[in-house]
Amino acid sequence: MISEKMRNMVKNSSAIRAMFEEGKRLAAIYGAENVYDFSLGNPNLPAPSEVADALKYEVENCDALTLHGYMSNAGFDDVRAAVAENLNKRFATSYDKSCIVMTVGAAGGLNVFLKAVLDAGDEVVVIAPFFGEYSNYVANYDGRIVVVKPNPPEFLPDIQAFENALTAKTKAVIINTPNNPTGVVYGEDTLKALSDAMERAQKKFGTSIYLLSDEPYRELVYGVSQPYPAKYYRNTVSGYSFSKSLSLAGERIGYLAVNPDCDDFDDLIGACAVATRVLGFVNAPSLIQRAVAKCLDASVDVEFYRKNGEALKAIMDECGFEYVNPQGAFYLFVKSPDGDDAAMCAKAKKHRLLLVPASGFGCKGWVRIAYCVSPETIAASRQSFIKLAKEYTR
Ligand SMILES: Cc1ncc(COP(=O)(O)O)c(C=O)c1O
Repeated sequence: MISEKMRNMVKNSSAIRAMFEEGKRLAAIYGAENVYDFSLGNPNLPAPSEVADALKYEVENCDALTLHGYMSNAGFDDVRAAVAENLNKRFATSYDKSCIVMTVGAAGGLNVFLKAVLDAGDEVVVIAPFFGEYSNYVANYDGRIVVVKPNPPEFLPDIQAFENALTAKTKAVIINTPNNPTGVVYGEDTLKALSDAMERAQKKFGTSIYLLSDEPYRELVYGVSQPYPAKYYRNTVSGYSFSKSLSLAGERIGYLAVNPDCDDFDDLIGACAVATRVLGFVNAPSLIQRAVAKCLDASVDVEFYRKNGEALKAIMDECGFEYVNPQGAFYLFVKSPDGDDAAMCAKAKKHRLLLVPASGFGCKGWVRIAYCVSPETIAASRQSFIKLAKEYTR
């Protein structure tokens, strides 16, 4: 029999699974091209050509034993050094290879970090709306997730509510900018205010509170300034992923960058390396580690996503749906006209539109539309959105 804990996780993940099954069912009836699947954040741009070149180079030129063998749990030394150097060049930071742990995507990195720092009952503060998997990741290590309520319409954190959520048990705060599901980017003022609140709490409780900055969308910003969170708060661990910036979601590659002046730096890095091993990853996949080290300045065409966002916003305007103007990532966060996000997604399904209710992101009354799809899908979905809007004006 499966565990009680797992039984609950399976039950709670059934909404997304049901959507996936529904998508397959609708595609079988109407044809895949007539089903507008906006449910998943799976990039539909190919990886930049630099990735294939780097993979080819590594396979043809590297010593096979080194390339395919076991390595340090934290990853290849030269890859970690290349990541550190690239971050220093871009953000004027002072990482070296000892600060970097290569991870199995952002999800692997988040789990490694939480495994490293959480004891049972420790609290992790998240700001709604947030990537729903955080709840599962925190539960993996018997932590307690503390949710700061959403702050519409800008969806920037309510700093007072945030500070009130910090307690003597707070081990970590997770932020995500650009944000999934809103596309909101935190500016300097927001990062400073969050940092000040955490500094005050550390002082008040005599504890260390780590900021885990979850940054899979760091490269996907639409011309706005995107400050680097680690510059604003000493106890920051940045979690990065190449899933979105290089369209490598299936390759499972990313890293944690631990600020060199973080509290308990040596223990933390050591624990992250051991967590990588004991969680069963052992190390991040070797070939793709080497390849991304050669592609640190490459990126997919962000303009493609921006244009998709503009096209979708035009449809929302025509339909009279309210939304958050995304500054990055590839999600449009849309308000359900009657406040019932699940009902809106159910209505949308009738018109072959697959959307995600934001209750799972801690934000009832809103839905997420992932626009990492083809421009043709967006154009073809227009009539379905118009029909959906009509359901609210009858
Ligand atoms: C905010 C956020 N964090 C983490 C992840 C996990 O990313 P990865 O594929 O790198 O594990 C995602 C994936 O969509 C995400 O949106």
